Amino acid sequence: MGIIYDEEYKVFHLQTPGSSYCMQIIRDGYLGHLYWGKRIAVYRNSLPFDYIDRGFSPNPDPADRSFSLDNLPQEYPGYGNGDFGFPAYQAGQSNGSEICDLRYSAHRIYAGKPKLPGLPSTYIELDKEADTLELVLEDHLTGLQVTLIYTVFNELDAIARSVQFNNKGTGSLSLQRALSASIDFRDDGYDILTFYGSHTNERNIARRPLMPGIQSAESRRGASSPQQNPFLALLRPGADEDNGEVYALSLVYSGNFIAQAEVQQYRTTRVSIGINPFGFSWKLAPGGEFQTPETVLVYSGQGLGGMSRVFNKLYRTRLCRGKFRDAERPVLINNWEATYFGFDEDKITEIASAGKALGMELFVLDDGWFGKRDNDLSSLGDWTVDNRKLPGGLNSLVQRITGMDMQFGLWFEPEMVSPDSELYRNHPDWCLHVADRPRTVGRNQLVLDLSRQDVCDYIAGAMGDILSSAPITYVKWDMNRHLTEIGSALLPAERQRETGHRYILGLYSILERLTSSFPEVLFESCSSGGGRYDAGMLYYMPQTWASDNTDAVSRLKIQYGNSMVYPAVSMGAHVSGVPNHQVSRSTPLGTRAHVAMSGNLGYELDLTQLSPEEKIHVKSQVALYKEIRPLIQFGDFYRILSPFEGNETAWAFVSADQSEAVLAFFRVLSQPGERVPILKCKGLNPAYVYRHHETCQVYGGDELMYAGLTLPVLTGDYASLFWRFSRVEG
Ligand code: DGJ
Repeated sequence: MGIIYDEEYKVFHLQTPGSSYCMQIIRDGYLGHLYWGKRIAVYRNSLPFDYIDRGFSPNPDPADRSFSLDNLPQEYPGYGNGDFGFPAYQAGQSNGSEICDLRYSAHRIYAGKPKLPGLPSTYIELDKEADTLELVLEDHLTGLQVTLIYTVFNELDAIARSVQFNNKGTGSLSLQRALSASIDFRDDGYDILTFYGSHTNERNIARRPLMPGIQSAESRRGASSPQQNPFLALLRPGADEDNGEVYALSLVYSGNFIAQAEVQQYRTTRVSIGINPFGFSWKLAPGGEFQTPETVLVYSGQGLGGMSRVFNKLYRTRLCRGKFRDAERPVLINNWEATYFGFDEDKITEIASAGKALGMELFVLDDGWFGKRDNDLSSLGDWTVDNRKLPGGLNSLVQRITGMDMQFGLWFEPEMVSPDSELYRNHPDWCLHVADRPRTVGRNQLVLDLSRQDVCDYIAGAMGDILSSAPITYVKWDMNRHLTEIGSALLPAERQRETGHRYILGLYSILERLTSSFPEVLFESCSSGGGRYDAGMLYYMPQTWASDNTDAVSRLKIQYGNSMVYPAVSMGAHVSGVPNHQVSRSTPLGTRAHVAMSGNLGYELDLTQLSPEEKIHVKSQVALYKEIRPLIQFGDFYRILSPFEGNETAWAFVSADQSEAVLAFFRVLSQPGERVPILKCKGLNPAYVYRHHETCQVYGGDELMYAGLTLPVLTGDYASLFWRFSRVEG
């Protein structure tokens, strides 16, 4: 059993194979947080709460100046009666007060994991994979009931947390904040790690020591965003890629979020994660219920690498769903950078046919096939084929492509509407807007109001019609602007601040409908690249276009950053033309492929323009990728050299049984006086003997990891190596 309740001490002890998480019901029913960290076999109250009479701290019991919520590490703190830290929840009442006082009321422990209504979450296939604790807290005055839900995975060092609010009282409540988790650490001796970036520059890593006060990552853009990502980790200062303690939280949500750490007066640290309270509220009528998104907690004693392998595996196997979860993903050719909006049926067929000859398996028709879309000025929302470009209709093109034994995929941007579209002319109130305010456009488009059922029905219907009209087996779901004027024509004034979250719930509902109606279709999410690369989207769409930046050098950082949380199989990575369209850099074709082969491989250039030598090269890349695809897509990922720390990057993929490995090395600039190029692999079995495919040399796993390999002399900028090792008997 992964959850133990100690009646005597009233301690809940959650255990994964390598971690423990402990809470205690203390005097008068408060729920205190005791411990999260390396696994403890039996918790015997080694870390009791420290009751000290501190000046300035308020006391709920006038007779006991040593007890104050100001100093108590709590499991789900509120505001207004002694705790001045960042609260996990706030519920406004009809008398204007937001004070609640949650106390323990009941609990339930059971095998299995509940589904979260309307929200993405990790899941299990058999009840024995996980145990769940539901801890019910109540505020007696208002009747607010808060259920803290914890699921402990029995084979992975991960704990899923979420919170359910129920209004059991007689008056309406207004949730002003409803975070998914809050954790009070007993000290502040940590670094904080978050991601930052922008369009074409996603998932940079920021690590810095915790300072007094608040430090956070957050989004107010209506999407998880390329600027930040719903993730935060605390690391002990000495922790690195392979060693040391890491405490990480990842939110399974695609909208506005907050992930923050607050170092408090006595050098304790409160970590909070959930829907961003900024711009949010939720009316909870009597009998009403609100479910927060799920957050996943991972403790690693093996540094960031250990943390990532837990997230990668959990998200690959118990977040992603459907037929494609365990299926090798097709090598695709996408026409966007080849043609942009300027194509016709013949051009598309030529590119697809060239892709087929080179071994590619899926052709993806990107933006520009519908309405009158010759540029980004019009037609979003009008999901009918443009007969000027495709006179035979979509089906004729699809038949030509599937007739050459290639799969066919199609681009949509379902959440948007162009002001110049039939949809907008017919339904001007279907976009997010605020009465009497101008509607701010982004890329010449407005955002549909997905908080409305009629809008969701339209999108699901229009897409469903297209997907039923031809044998389409892949969808690229794009989203190219953030939300402004976040208001809905259908919601009353007191519910307008619900619009942002309702938008995300609407999005999830459309995705649930479409993915369950079209289980044979592989969905890839995209938001101008990795602008909504989050665990929420992965639940519906098991791969994400990692960045609009296809430059191999830029991609080293983007893919390295993503790998911290998200598995390689979820990372769309394309070989594109040179000079690169985003940064104008020219890198060798081999290096471009080695970077893209480190994810979910595709091509995005005009294949008909390749030279005969380039075609031979590309054909061998595709053939190699198909051979190593199970290893790349389903193996364990080890980061070796960081692109954020120097001129060289290296990583390895190792199969679950450690019999196969790929070692990839990249050197950005050729420089004088370079270091002796020794590269040590990771993740191999030290007792195994491996054959190096390229040289046929045989090495012990211990040799490859501890002594390392001397790399050959590399010439020129943007050089790379991509080496395979297979176990041999010996
Ligand atoms: C942004 C995407 O990231 C690109 O790959 C492409 O699909 C364009 N949108 C099309 O408008």
